[in-house]
Amino acid sequence: MTFYFNGVHDDNGPQNRDEPAIGLARPFLVDTLIYRPIYQRSNFHSVHSLHSARACFMSDEHKFQVDLGGIIDLLSNHLYSGPEVFLRELLQNAVDAITARGLIESGHVGSVQFETIQGKGRLPPTLVVEDNGIGLTSEEIHQFLSTIGRSSKRESLDRDDFIGQFGIGLLSCFVVADEITLITRSVKPGQPAVEWKGRADGTYSLRTLDRDFSPGTQVYLQAKPGREAMFDADFVFEHVKKFGGHLPIAVDVVAGSSKRSINEPPPWLRSFRSEEERKAAYLDYGKQVFGTEFFDAIPLRSEIGGIDGIAFVLPQAASLAAKQSHHVYLKQMLLSEKGEKLLPDWAFFVKCVINTQDLRPTASRESFYDDHRLDNARENLGDCLEVISKPF
Ligand SMILES: Nc1ncnc2c1ncn2[C@@H]1O[C@H](COP(=O)(O)OP(=O)(O)OP(=O)(O)O)[C@@H](O)[C@H]1O
Ligand SMILES: [Mg+2]
Repeated sequence: MTFYFNGVHDDNGPQNRDEPAIGLARPFLVDTLIYRPIYQRSNFHSVHSLHSARACFMSDEHKFQVDLGGIIDLLSNHLYSGPEVFLRELLQNAVDAITARGLIESGHVGSVQFETIQGKGRLPPTLVVEDNGIGLTSEEIHQFLSTIGRSSKRESLDRDDFIGQFGIGLLSCFVVADEITLITRSVKPGQPAVEWKGRADGTYSLRTLDRDFSPGTQVYLQAKPGREAMFDADFVFEHVKKFGGHLPIAVDVVAGSSKRSINEPPPWLRSFRSEEERKAAYLDYGKQVFGTEFFDAIPLRSEIGGIDGIAFVLPQAASLAAKQSHHVYLKQMLLSEKGEKLLPDWAFFVKCVINTQDLRPTASRESFYDDHRLDNARENLGDCLEVISKPF
């Protein structure tokens, strides 16, 4: 089902507002519900008589309304692990936009910048996230950005290349700001730059800008009361690095004249001169990530799920009942630091860090669907560990 913002906009772009996202046998189901009291009272016994009953009534078609405040509450209090996930969602959208541009402009070099600007006087701080991705046309803004639950990526033939798919990620920004301003220009020829403002009350506006703007997107957020700390330069740097430090796209965090890169490729993508050097780098990484001096480090790989990573052998005996939480990346972005069920149950003596290119994330994006692909990947990862499991 598609929910829309109650749009208020000043251009006449197409809106596709009458197109239902899910075309189930809705008219029949709705009719059945509407006419049920009559059906019961009059003892109609067939669909035919049910439909004849319909002629006796005037019916109005209505669209579901959405209480955006309720959805934001649902996301922030029940789906996401914390309010800082807006940084992850903004980074993900920027990365997906760069991926989309790369699919039509081979060799495009993408970059993302997070800039924190402290407010003058008592004004709240602002965060600006800028990417040189594919950008959006006005029509795409109505279709995808302003339609909750609709995603350009789900409808793309290359959907497996993207991280996003649910069409809700941007809403996480309303947890920290009352308004999202987005300035964008599509790479498609002849498209002007446009400014979109989406508000937490469920309205949005759109206007064409009469100025030069390179293709790509800038998102502006101003902290709402109580969320100022999340716009602090160090907070932004620390979290953006945590979520996206392993990305192959340049990401910088800027504050005043300081510019810091978050990029640090994971050890399984680095080359080493010897096995000893590799092992030392892996163990060092394990210490950085988990704060533990591990006994050993074993490379993990599974074609199924497109998985690469490292398993770290715990220095002390662990109990079979102990749950190990693993660090999990999806397409090089951190998904969860509490990943479970990625390894077979018998592998209770290791903790791992893995990246998967194609396991399917759940809507919270903090775990995966426990499907056949995950079962097979788990088995493959178990095979990688057999070198050390023999003595147990
Ligand atoms: N930086 C951006 N550049 C270009 N398009 C964007 C950008 N950010 C958002 N969009 C558009 O807005 C849509 C909605 O974004 P949103 O993050 O809510 O959902 P999604 O990324 O499609 O899925 P998910 O909920 O899994 O994040 C996207 O599908 C995309 O079309
Ligand atoms: Mg998204």
